[in-house]
Amino acid sequence: MKIFLDTADVDEIRRASAMGLVDGVTTNPTLVSRTGRAYKEVIKEICDIVDGPISAEVISDDAEGMIAEARDWAKVHKNIAVKVPMTLEGLKAVKTCSAEGISTNVTLVFQPLQGLLAAKAGATFVSPFVGRLDDIGRDGMDMVADLMTMIRNYGYKTEVIVASIRNSIHVSQSALIGADIITIPFKVFNTLVKHPLTDKGIESFKADYEKIPKA
Ligand code: G3P
Repeated sequence: MKIFLDTADVDEIRRASAMGLVDGVTTNPTLVSRTGRAYKEVIKEICDIVDGPISAEVISDDAEGMIAEARDWAKVHKNIAVKVPMTLEGLKAVKTCSAEGISTNVTLVFQPLQGLLAAKAGATFVSPFVGRLDDIGRDGMDMVADLMTMIRNYGYKTEVIVASIRNSIHVSQSALIGADIITIPFKVFNTLVKHPLTDKGIESFKADYEKIPKA
């Protein structure tokens, strides 16, 4: 499973990237607004840190506007995946981008059929939002499992990016259902290597080492 970071904070990206575990980055306008910086400037810096797909989102409502934004983003860096909303206009834009060799990430997917249509339109990536479904009392991970089955049933090359991740359980579940990619907030990323018994074991091994006679 590939691991992407779901953040626009370049310090977080540098720190996680130094661990050698980051395969890409996803951003959205909300994440970028928290940085107080211009979207393009942030994306350019991220592209210099991580050599993998970097998602940057369009804001137009119509296909024509989205395509113009996508072409603009594609000029910024070869690794950019243009994030397009899951709407009919978005799917039209995906079709054109796909024909022009522009990588796309269809976002705000909340039911499997939406993701299947995105794959059919030629999306490079599709992003089902797990946490936001859980938040309204639905099982987000069930939705991802069904979407994976549908995409594999028809052999689409579209990769599923499990998004809107809240905790390490979402990460384990994504791996168990064989998701291609998971995009993780830095806060969750930091919890993944941690277990209290690991820390306790290290402490006791260190203490016992001190009891070994030194040659
Ligand atoms: O990047 C999109 C997605 O991961 C958003 O997550 O936490 O705002 O539901 P969240």
